[in-house]
Amino acid sequence: MEPLEFIRCTPADLDVLRDVSISTFSRAFETQNNPEDFAAYLRKAFGRNQLETEFRHPDMHFYFVRSEGDLVGYFKLNTGNAQTELREPKGMELERIYVLAGFQGRGMGARMLDWICGHARSAGKTYLWLGVWEHNPRAIAFYERQGFVTFGKHPYDIGNDRQWDWLMRLDLPASKGMAPDRGPASDNTT
Ligand SMILES: CC(C)(COP(=O)(O)OP(=O)(O)OC[C@H]1O[C@@H](n2cnc3c(N)ncnc32)[C@H](O)[C@@H]1OP(=O)(O)O)[C@@H](O)C(=O)NCCC(=O)NCCS
Repeated sequence: MEPLEFIRCTPADLDVLRDVSISTFSRAFETQNNPEDFAAYLRKAFGRNQLETEFRHPDMHFYFVRSEGDLVGYFKLNTGNAQTELREPKGMELERIYVLAGFQGRGMGARMLDWICGHARSAGKTYLWLGVWEHNPRAIAFYERQGFVTFGKHPYDIGNDRQWDWLMRLDLPASKGMAPDRGPASDNTT
């Protein structure tokens, strides 16, 4: 199995991050949305200014995931008041997780999640949580298989279209007696 490298993004990565954010989000959701609402959302969520602001936020962190030099995915983690709900000190929000199309279904997402769990626990967090569109059954199945459980719902606006996300949560076992597949992050971090 090829090793994965987890690299915290810096402002120098902004253009690549922006491109990959737009392309993965569009590929996943564009056809299921009204074009005008979708375009408005892309401008707002992935605009340069917006991403620059998020980069500057001390509690929002983006990571690239590389395998043998190829970018295979990215994710965004929020803590503290940067979380979009709950905002508990012991929680960490996985606001985005995307595997690039050619790499999906090959276990990358599961390995990314393992690393994220180890990282969250090292940061003293006791649970991970996320919002997933109610009409994204494959992602919901993925999270359920990884042990997430649904605990609520919150609205998520795509342009003028109000949509709903399921809120899902994964409790992180304490280091003592923790499940082997939720051990400390083992892949490389840069
Ligand atoms: C959801 C996602 C992160 C999972 O990562 P992954 O590397 O594809 O998943 P893994 O290979 O570790 O696990 C495969 C399982 O994930 C689920 N899955 C979700 N989307 C999938 C996809 N596009 N292709 C294959 N499996 C997918 C399935 O349940 C699959 O199980 P199966 O093999 O029994 O069908 C990734 O598929 C992705 O980026 N999807 C598009 C964007 C998205 O929906 N992101 C989540 C937003 S909340």
